[in-house]
Amino acid sequence: MSGGMKMYGKHRLPGRLFIVEGIDGSGKSTQLMLLQKWLVSEGYVTSFSEWNSSPLVRDVTKRGKKKQMLTPMTFSLIHATDFADRIEHGIIPPLKAGAVVLADRYIYTAFARDVVRGVSPKWVRDLYAFAVKPTVAFYFRTPLDVAMKRILGGRDAIKYYEAGMDIGLSDDIEESFRLFQSRIIDEYEKMVDEFGLVAIDATRSIEEQQTEVRKIVSEALTGTKKSKVRRWLDLASLAKGSRK
Ligand SMILES: Nc1ncnc2c1ncn2[C@@H]1O[C@H](COP(=O)(O)OP(=O)(O)OP(=O)(O)O)[C@@H](O)[C@H]1O
Ligand SMILES: [Mg+2]
Repeated sequence: MSGGMKMYGKHRLPGRLFIVEGIDGSGKSTQLMLLQKWLVSEGYVTSFSEWNSSPLVRDVTKRGKKKQMLTPMTFSLIHATDFADRIEHGIIPPLKAGAVVLADRYIYTAFARDVVRGVSPKWVRDLYAFAVKPTVAFYFRTPLDVAMKRILGGRDAIKYYEAGMDIGLSDDIEESFRLFQSRIIDEYEKMVDEFGLVAIDATRSIEEQQTEVRKIVSEALTGTKKSKVRRWLDLASLAKGSRK
């Protein structure tokens, strides 16, 4: 087995991987959910994966966060462990089966956050070298004030880590959020060229963005299989139609 862990770098798996990135409140989850609904209605087999969701390390991270005892590097390693588990169990198998995998945040989230927290850009990129390259990586480009308005409109408070309070930018949580997230934006902007992220103007309406996203996705879906159930449904509705 040549290449070891890097074997999936440029994957030749039959499925497709679409991922969304952007700061908190940029509208990633909204767009991904709409994309999934559309893909399902088009008959594709989809699978969904979320950043930081594996039960394996969720509890560890939670406890570490509470006690505020994690250094940026341990934080980074824990997330990478979580991601390794997720990619092996939740991303590679559906890609092998030819499914369309949708991921809400991906390795670029780690690259942005960990670098802002002081980890070396090269170190964190090497750490995630085993990751599958996405078919398309969307970046929802949003100015800070637009994102903040959306977040504050939708829920009560900014969370401690979301505001980067652990790195001591400011004692004021809103000010810290501004400083932290604008540094995250700087990192994302650098990655647009570095990784070919597809930037979407996320200040526009939900519908306008979704139209653009679907157009890009449908171009990348050529040759992707649809579910048998769907084909059966199509045949069934055809048969029904012919009976009229
Ligand atoms: N284009 C848009 N215009 C106005 N409001 C939007 C738009 N897109 C999303 N929203 C709203 O903004 C809020 C945040 O959106 P969403 O949860 O999709 O963001 P997110 O990028 O997933 O954030 P997080 O990183 O915190 O998960 C939601 O209340 C959503 O309804
Ligand atoms: Mg979200």
